[in-house]
Amino acid sequence: MDTIAQQIKTAIRDIPDFPKPGIVFKDITPILKDPVLCQNIIESFALQLQGVRIDAIAGIESRGFLFGLQLAGKLGVPFIPVRKAGKLPYTVKQKVYELEYGAATIELHTDAFEPGQHILIHDDLLATGGTVTAASELITEMGGIVAGFTFVVGLGFLKGKEKITPLAERVIVLANY
Ligand code: PRP
Ligand code: MG
Repeated sequence: MDTIAQQIKTAIRDIPDFPKPGIVFKDITPILKDPVLCQNIIESFALQLQGVRIDAIAGIESRGFLFGLQLAGKLGVPFIPVRKAGKLPYTVKQKVYELEYGAATIELHTDAFEPGQHILIHDDLLATGGTVTAASELITEMGGIVAGFTFVVGLGFLKGKEKITPLAERVIVLANY
């Protein structure tokens, strides 16, 4: 059987010039159409996280919800949505962070977890690492401990892994480009 990285790379569809000219978009929707592959992805994360204290999983809107909730179910821990500004209804704490052009804001409910809890951050894809760095800072400011990061796909040439490695003990990327 192919490795999980091979299975993911076989399924991913490259879309040239999306969302703008010069960008090759990694389309993960074919993965979602393959329930066995989805299960293999969750199993692979769970295997690599054995023995790690994880009290909750924070998934980044929106594609980080797809596997984040499934992984939380597999590990039997709560799922926490990290959302874009203005989407969460209860009291929130927010973090503004820089993008290539302009800024973005992410938010967490103030009761998302208890201080001292170990939170795993999950997203579908690691590019520059800017989004998960902001999530990590938000969680730390709220008294949480970042247990690690998990991604289905990584764009190694953007050096996101180098950026986030100092932030937690574990960075798991299943398929790296
Ligand atoms: C993409 C991807 C990650 C983020 C990675 O999300 O799903 O969340 O960008 O980029 P970074 O490592 O440079 O921060 P996007 O903002 O396109 O939104 P979506 O998940 O809602 O589609
Ligand atoms: Mg995203």
